[in-house]
Amino acid sequence: MQRLAAQWQRSGCRVVLVPTMGSLHEGHRSLIRRARRKAGADGIVVVSIYVNPTQFGVNEDFDAYPRDLRRDLTACRAEGVDVVFAPSDADMYPFGNSTHVQEEALSILMEGASRPTHFRGVTTVVAKLFNLVRPDWAVFGAKDWQQAAVIRRMVRDLNQPVKIDIAPTVRESDGLAMSSRNVNLTPDERVQAGVLHRALKRAREEVRVRRAVTPAALRAVVLQCFQSAPAARLDYVEFFDPGSLQPVRKVTPGMHMALAVRFSRTRLIDNGRL
Ligand code: PAJ
Repeated sequence: MQRLAAQWQRSGCRVVLVPTMGSLHEGHRSLIRRARRKAGADGIVVVSIYVNPTQFGVNEDFDAYPRDLRRDLTACRAEGVDVVFAPSDADMYPFGNSTHVQEEALSILMEGASRPTHFRGVTTVVAKLFNLVRPDWAVFGAKDWQQAAVIRRMVRDLNQPVKIDIAPTVRESDGLAMSSRNVNLTPDERVQAGVLHRALKRAREEVRVRRAVTPAALRAVVLQCFQSAPAARLDYVEFFDPGSLQPVRKVTPGMHMALAVRFSRTRLIDNGRL
């Protein structure tokens, strides 16, 4: 990968990276198509596929995370991807590795509060992918809004020579955000999982009508939605400024809501503009 990247650098062609953990769905494919538009016909689109162990906590779903490299390669071929980079654990984390990248302000909020070691794993692996592929652009999804903000901060703070592009969230017909983890839901949980998007829409409507709402009042509205989903356990719901990720005291149009929900074996997240 590094040899190829050095060649691309010398020839001056534009390289666009889409980092993924595989089990590619329509959300990933929309990122890949965006990457192709950015790269142009002469540019190089690289998709990395790596289920990164360091971003999973000890009791999380690393083993249950879906993997299907053969299917992913077919999807990448269909999308005209130039290179798929699918390293092994030994490639990425040689024995005795002891260096990591940690963003320390945005990473402690929301997902970071629930999953304390998560973003350290994400920033470390993404920094490594940037060093390996040396992309001009990297494309991330708005589905993981906080992750994108943490990556942007890392790139700024470490002067990494890459530009970050954020693509909109792709959803199923009932509004559920596409996620590789959705396959781990039982049929009943899959139906109830529509509650994440319902809660988002309900909160958006409340803000549209009332213009300024306290987080406590909006939280009550969200909790009400969850009565229709008895299998869902709300992990958190937050209302925040989309740029700084800081919680707001009054929720007004343009602010964001993010939530995390646990079903028996599967934890889902979603977010959107209110
Ligand atoms: P993964 O969950 O595979 O997601 C890869 C990229 O696809 C992320 O940028 C994510 O935000 C985006 N994505 C996922 N679902 C989406 C959807 N429904 N619509 C639009 N984009 C979507 O995020 C990761 O992997 C990892 O943390 C990674 C960045 C690869 C580091 O290991």
